[in-house]
This record gives sequence, structure tokens and C-alpha cells, in this order.
Amino acid sequence: MACRLALGIAYRRRCASGAFVTPISAEFQPRLTTTGRVRFTLGEKGMDAIMAQAQGTAHWDENHSRGFLHNGRYFVPDRERQIGIIADLIPQPAPGGLLVELCSGEGLLSRALLERFADCHVLALDGSAQMLEQTQATCRDHAGRLATAAFELAQSGWRRFAEPPHAVVSSLAIHHLDGWQKQDLFADLAAALKPGGVLVVADIVRPPSAGGLDIAARQWDEAVRARALAIDGDLAAFAEFNRLGWNYFRNPDGEPIDKPSSLAEQLSWLAKAGFIEVDCAWLFAGHAIFSGRKP
Ligand SMILES: C[S@@+](CC[C@H](N)C(=O)[O-])C[C@H]1O[C@@H](n2cnc3c(N)ncnc32)[C@H](O)[C@@H]1O
Repeated sequence: MACRLALGIAYRRRCASGAFVTPISAEFQPRLTTTGRVRFTLGEKGMDAIMAQAQGTAHWDENHSRGFLHNGRYFVPDRERQIGIIADLIPQPAPGGLLVELCSGEGLLSRALLERFADCHVLALDGSAQMLEQTQATCRDHAGRLATAAFELAQSGWRRFAEPPHAVVSSLAIHHLDGWQKQDLFADLAAALKPGGVLVVADIVRPPSAGGLDIAARQWDEAVRARALAIDGDLAAFAEFNRLGWNYFRNPDGEPIDKPSSLAEQLSWLAKAGFIEVDCAWLFAGHAIFSGRKP
């Protein structure tokens, strides 16, 4: 199965002897191990530097990963429902089909896909070593059907797959690309997917009006308050959300790492890339789930 899952460029999958994570990027360097096998390891610059290079000075780093691993369960509105909707938007794959998650983070969505589609394989990609480790831990019950690899979302080399995926999904990550980069990504994924395959994106989207920004900001506050109370019985996590200034919609130009595009733009870019059945299935608190199918 490792061969069938192999990308156009090398990566190594998690296997019984442990987790091998290979960065998929122009920066990865082959080294010979003591067993004589070639392993790919990061150059001195490391993945943070690769992400910085691809995204400019503002970029996601391991400190962001640490923070999000702690706060994600409070800060993502309707997180469990979103994961369910993303899975619902994937048509039943053929046995052995490949599902790819871009920027898998903690691995909750990858795990849901492995559970929902018990005959399928998941390739989880992320730029953060911490996140990939966490994805492997979250999905440990399905390790035989999970492959992980380090990648840089903004680069295009990883977008060639030896086996065309049945679905590509992503949650809360594509907004780190600017509008042009998103358009390139959608076009490349339209080319990479199997006919009939889907791209499902869950992400924050930028409302084009002041009124829309205000509604999204208020709804996000309400959602985080409710999750803080439901999880901990107090508002400490909501206070942290405010302290960090996490609500993008209150200060949309305050954090250069976040570059959400409007929902209307992104739906039009999906259509322009050749996707059909382009639609938004869910929208709340400025978070949208939208998708398209390759004819
Ligand atoms: C906000 S977290 C979302 C994690 C997960 N998808 C979720 O919904 O909980 C963003 C994720 O994208 C990854 N990421 C951000 N920018 C990236 C980039 N340029 N290349 C690769 N991964 C990136 C981070 O490491 C992190 O796991």
C-alpha cells in the first residue's frame, strides 16, 4: 500500500517500526542511515524557516502549534459538527481510496475520516512537526491506514500524487495563503483529484461588509463563551480568547499571518478551477464549509 500512496516526490509513511515524517519540499535532504536506507531529513533551516520563506515574514511556527493544540477545542466554533459536515460532503469512496488532509493539526478530522471510511487511507500533511506527531497520536488506532508527511502548503511540489485522491480536505489553514495562492491551490487540486473527487474546505472567510464583520465577530464570541462554559464550567478560555485578540473579525487587518478571502471569491475560484456542484454547506461565526466536485 505504501507504493500506491506514494506522492510524486518521496515521503515515508508511518509504519510498525515508528513514525517517519518526511518534509515534502525543495528543502528536504536525503541522508543514508546506518541500515543503508535513505531517509529524508530537514536541512538546518528546519520547517519553520521553510514556511517563513514560502509565506513571507509572517508565518505559522511551532509556538502557534503549541497554542492551538491547547486552545483549539475552545476556539473552533461547532468543531465536532464541522468535522461531521466535512465528512458528509465526501461521496462514498471505492475501497482503498485515498483521502488527503492538508494541515491536519491535532488530527481530529483525519481520525474522523479514518473512522467514517473504514476501507480508505488517509494522507495527513502539515508543516509542523508537533502537529504531525499529534496527528499520529490521535489516529493511533488506525495507524495502518494513515500516512503523514511534512509539507509547505504554499509550495506546489507536493500537489502531484501518484494515486489521484478521492478527496482533499482542509480545516482552518488555507486562509494562511493569499488570494493568488488560493487560486493556484484550487487549480492544482482540481488537476490532482480523481474524476468525481471532491475538495472540501472549512475555513474562516472574510465578510465584505462592516455589518458582516460585526455579525461574525459577535457569533464567534458567543461560540467560544459557550464552549468554555461547556468544557470547563467557567469563562477562563473565553478570557484567553480575548487576551490573545483571537477574534479575527474584530481586527481583520491586525494579524498578517491571516489572509482570509471572501466566501464569494473562493466559490468563484473553485468554479474557475473547473469544479462543479460548488456550494457552501455551512456558515457560522465567519467560519464556512464549502466544496466542489471534479467532473
Ligand atoms: C489553525 S491550525 C488548524 C489545524 C486543524 N486543521 C484544525 O482544524 O484543527 C493550522 C494548521 O495549519 C498548519 N500550517 C499553517 N501554515 C502552514 C503552511 N504554510 N504549511 C503547512 N502547514 C501549515 C499548522 O501547522 C496547523 O497545524
